[in-house]
Amino acid sequence: MPAIKDKITLEKLLQRMYWIEAEMEQLGTWEARIEMMDDNIAALEMLSHDSDRHGDILKKWLTKGGITVPETAPSGLPKHIFDFEGMSSNEMFEKIMKYEILAKNAYTDVKNTNQDVIKELFPDEDDQIKFLQDMGQLIKDEEKHANICKDRVGGFAKIML
Ligand SMILES: [Fe+2]
Ligand SMILES: [Fe+2]
Repeated sequence: MPAIKDKITLEKLLQRMYWIEAEMEQLGTWEARIEMMDDNIAALEMLSHDSDRHGDILKKWLTKGGITVPETAPSGLPKHIFDFEGMSSNEMFEKIMKYEILAKNAYTDVKNTNQDVIKELFPDEDDQIKFLQDMGQLIKDEEKHANICKDRVGGFAKIML
């Protein structure tokens, strides 16, 4: 059974995910504010860079589908999702991991949208195929991101604070 059955739900989820990707792109700005080991910094940079790329992919599909690209936080989402003030890097990656898993689940739902809804949003057949391919790639990326975070949660040796 498809996870998403109507156009409004799909549109809202794509807008929410665009916002979350934009927030995750900002992760890089925390590098200087939390003292971390080099490999944690590299991980944060990668998550930030990939989120930037993901945001661009979502923006492309929002635009193609005639959906407003949000400029403020969609309802139900805080203005800023990430505030790591006073956290250890473990706690930080634990929080990020929750959002990586959320993203993976969201893109899995999007990929499982009712075919008729996808056709309604993207009438061009080529677009329908590419949209689903992009969602497949996002799912893989988010799975990788969640694992990167998982590797950094729970260990004691990596905390420098
Ligand atoms: Fe992402
Ligand atoms: Fe991610």
